[in-house]
Amino acid sequence: MSWADTFVELDKAIHDRASFDCGEEELNTFLHTQAAKHMEVGVSRTMLLPASAPHPNGKYPICSFYTAAPSSISRETLPETLAKKLPHYPVPVFLLAQLAVHSEYQDQGLGKITLIKALEYLLEVNAHMRAYAIIVDCLNDNAEQFYLKYGFEELCKYNGRTRMFILMKTVAQLFPYISYN
Ligand SMILES: CC(C)(COP(=O)(O)OP(=O)(O)OC[C@H]1O[C@@H](n2cnc3c(N)ncnc32)[C@H](O)[C@@H]1OP(=O)(O)O)[C@@H](O)C(=O)NCCC(=O)NCCS
Repeated sequence: MSWADTFVELDKAIHDRASFDCGEEELNTFLHTQAAKHMEVGVSRTMLLPASAPHPNGKYPICSFYTAAPSSISRETLPETLAKKLPHYPVPVFLLAQLAVHSEYQDQGLGKITLIKALEYLLEVNAHMRAYAIIVDCLNDNAEQFYLKYGFEELCKYNGRTRMFILMKTVAQLFPYISYN
């Protein structure tokens, strides 16, 4: 089955959360049971790419998704050359909290598309409310390799995971049609 043309916000009445399986239980469980609740209470937003046609139950399978939320880091976690230009209070960032592709659709470039869409979306948000960088807490070495490929750098260890970051000004270079300054 092919995927649709555009990413849309998760809607539990339309999207078939239960059938999503990316091979990582933690990410599956998040989408099945938490993503919609987190949107309802206003702590994160989940965007997804549905399949182009619905299941027999009328709901659309989810091909990939990402979840983003505002967050902050301490400047001390950043490399010295960056840190010295920043204030001592918490530095605003966007957290790319989750990103996954359904196993059926992996290795076809959809992870790359989903990441690019997440970066584009966060740069658009940044035009209204500034953030210094995008951070991601990698679930495993594979995720780390995936983000390294796209310019993320290691920031620190956080809750036993490798936290990586990419500066918003670097993301802006990828999308010259989105206002940055
Ligand atoms: C990691 C994941 C998002 C990649 O999605 P995908 O659709 O399979 O990846 P793509 O086909 O778009 O591949 C894009 C590039 O990343 C590389 N890549 C894909 N999976 C990778 C992995 N696990 N480790 C390292 N590189 C990887 C591909 O080789 C490709 O590189 P290329 O363009 O030079 O050929 C997907 O495998 C997934 O959802 N995994 C389970 C959840 C997970 O680990 N999420 C990470 C966030 S914590």
